[in-house]
Amino acid sequence: MSDMTPATMRVVEYDRHGGPEVLTVRTAPVPRPGPGEVLVRVAAASASRGEDLVRTGALNPLRGRTLPARVGTDLAGTVAAVTEGVGFRVGQRVWGLMPHSAFGAMAGFVAVPGDQLARIPDGLDLVDAAAAPAVGTTAAHALRDLAKLTTGERLLVRGASGGVGSVAVQLGHAWGAHVTALAGAANLRWVRDLGADVVLDHRRTAPDDLRDLAPFDVVLDLVGTELDTLYDLLSPGGRLVPLGVDPADPLGSLRDNAATAEHHPGRAFPFSNDARTGELTALATLVETGALRVLVHERFTLDDVAEAYRRVEAGGVRGKIVVMVDPH
Ligand SMILES: NC(=O)c1ccc[n+]([C@@H]2O[C@H](COP(=O)([O-])OP(=O)(O)OC[C@H]3O[C@@H](n4cnc5c(N)ncnc54)[C@H](OP(=O)(O)O)[C@@H]3O)[C@@H](O)[C@H]2O)c1
Repeated sequence: MSDMTPATMRVVEYDRHGGPEVLTVRTAPVPRPGPGEVLVRVAAASASRGEDLVRTGALNPLRGRTLPARVGTDLAGTVAAVTEGVGFRVGQRVWGLMPHSAFGAMAGFVAVPGDQLARIPDGLDLVDAAAAPAVGTTAAHALRDLAKLTTGERLLVRGASGGVGSVAVQLGHAWGAHVTALAGAANLRWVRDLGADVVLDHRRTAPDDLRDLAPFDVVLDLVGTELDTLYDLLSPGGRLVPLGVDPADPLGSLRDNAATAEHHPGRAFPFSNDARTGELTALATLVETGALRVLVHERFTLDDVAEAYRRVEAGGVRGKIVVMVDPH
């Protein structure tokens, strides 16, 4: 590590389960990168939906109880130190993900495997860049790699104004699909401007009300309920990607997402995002070619991290909330 790297950093932690109020900013040692890892000086990290389920302990039956814990799934920053054989150089702007199911991006520095980082698109602000890695690679993997969405197909995005959904609408449009979007009433015009052809208020339109607009070739669900009805909206050969986790019954959603895949082999594709350099680089290209805009609803300071998560969990967010850790 360079002489310029400090010994300590600020980091967001919690040591009891609960709401955003359990989050505390503490001082901790800067990690030392292990073999294959890169030390990144974090400019910003995003606050993600789903982290609340870990923080409240709702997923403890699956994950076990692991306290104290840190928060933040994805990040943007600059390389502070590299280890042998890693294809990055000190000072390079990078974005990436924490290792699968690990959190802790909201820290002054993180040691991340080099294969979970990639260069940031030219011209993209370093803080804004933190909004894209997790939701961008999730939406792209769902539509491109699993559902194999093609030009002229009909796509339904349920949960279209949020982090994953706002990327999915843009990619669906860029890849030549006809996009139907379910979103909150206040965000319908915004979602249309992202490229949706049909926009519907999710509080007035249930999946069952969509039968007149069906069939859809691809349905991306970001809500986590009513999967049987969504499956019935598919065309012959249509594909469902169920990613939503209902906060009211998270374990039930995860069970239903997996069961749908079991009952409909080759037609339903739940997954847990674990993107690597190739997918993160492809995401950078999508931004550089103008297919994808990185959408930041609001920036918060590290000291206001609890407020950032409250904002995410209140709903109605357009794109992503980012937390500025050490803007530079
Ligand atoms: N498996 C994976 O790898 C993976 C990766 C990322 C995310 N996820 C999951 O995917 C889901 C979405 O994540 P996100 O980051 O995009 O969350 P988000 O930013 O909170 O977006 C969720 C969206 O769903 C909308 N919504 C809520 N209830 C709805 C309903 N009944 N019908 C239609 N839309 C509804 C919300 O609109 P309003 O707030 O305006 O009501 C919001 O726009 C979460 O459950 C998350 O855990 C899974």
